Amino acid sequence: MSPSSRTPEAILSELQTIGAAYAEKKPGAREQLINLSQALISSLELPSEAIQRMGWAEPARAAHCRIAVELKLFEALRDNGEGLSAKELAAKANADDVLIARIIKHLVAMNVVGEDGVDKFIATPLSNALTEPKYRDGIIYTYDVAGPSFRGLPEYLKSIKYAHPTDLTNGPFQAAHKTQLPFFAWLDQNPPYLQIFNNYMAAYRAGKPSWVDPGFYPVDQLGEGFNPSNNEALLVDVGGGLGHDLQELRQKHPSLPGKLILQDRPEVIISIESSKGVFESACHDFFTPQPVKDARAYYLHSVLHDWGDDDCVRILEQLKPAMKPGYSKLLINEIIVPSQHATWPITSMDQLVFVLGAMRERTEGHWQDLLKKAGFKIVQIYSYEMGSESLIEAEVA
Ligand SMILES: C[S@@+](CC[C@H](N)C(=O)[O-])C[C@H]1O[C@@H](n2cnc3c(N)ncnc32)[C@H](O)[C@@H]1O
Repeated sequence: MSPSSRTPEAILSELQTIGAAYAEKKPGAREQLINLSQALISSLELPSEAIQRMGWAEPARAAHCRIAVELKLFEALRDNGEGLSAKELAAKANADDVLIARIIKHLVAMNVVGEDGVDKFIATPLSNALTEPKYRDGIIYTYDVAGPSFRGLPEYLKSIKYAHPTDLTNGPFQAAHKTQLPFFAWLDQNPPYLQIFNNYMAAYRAGKPSWVDPGFYPVDQLGEGFNPSNNEALLVDVGGGLGHDLQELRQKHPSLPGKLILQDRPEVIISIESSKGVFESACHDFFTPQPVKDARAYYLHSVLHDWGDDDCVRILEQLKPAMKPGYSKLLINEIIVPSQHATWPITSMDQLVFVLGAMRERTEGHWQDLLKKAGFKIVQIYSYEMGSESLIEAEVA
């Protein structure tokens, strides 16, 4: 039974059990506590309260966070540890003080900002985090780029008579943004959203279980089997964005041998200021033949979920001739949708790729079929307790 169909008493009792696991720092306990806490709210709140929360309170919080990012209200709170009145905050933002008082009170009520006395507002760990560029960009990206697609989804689906959109040039994103461009081309043509998207990609998984952490994927196997006489490249990150995964791999496994190579579109590669000597970067269209031959591993993270099955097969087929049989590994880091109890991080990512590219997250069976079509076989799937992404290790069939 899913937590949301249980009674408040049953959920409270489970919260105690998982709370003990959390105190012992058990993997996955934090995520389970979040899920149970959300289920507890659902089991307690009246339908009228649920509508108020979903329909007004959460949209207002999202809008207020976007405004606070624009006006640098969180920076003002961070820099004034004693706290600020609404009037002082408004003066720093050059905005009306009655307006700011109303916005900030809602942000307090929704646990984004703190309150330390009458008309005295203080920072919280969350509001301080929202001053970091990567998280600021997360607020801007989710509100400005994804937000309109979600908002317009009901009307869009009605207009296509509830068919299942699968065309990445004609879906909810194009309807909402009044464009014919696919998502990545739209980003290129609408600065600063490309940079904002790339920065947010580095942030949306921050702190979550990572494939390079102990107990997830045996990263050392890559180094142990590495043979520089094949090629000096240890791992090629195909569609790797700004190279954040390579930075993390090198930082957490500094003794791994071989070169790390980042590949992405020219529009992305050009914006990398410095790889700090950690990786080499190259412009590469993954629909064209893979130029780096015989690397130990070819890694694709959150790449294939942006494409339909036929395009995924085309992308994977470009890798196959570059791979040395029995040596090169294909590593796919993606969500695998479970057959039941899919958690909200999984279902919401499925919805995000749906509204941005008319794409979907895949089940294990779907991945198996897709890889078979492209001429690969799955060797093993690695997952982590309550993590939403899995590492699929595959080889040429
Ligand atoms: C969802 S992002 C994932 C980025 C990174 N792997 C991560 O997980 O954070 C998809 C990436 O694919 C890149 N991409 C899209 N089309 C591409 C193409 N034809 N060739 C190479 N990269 C492409 C995008 O620029 C973007 O960086």
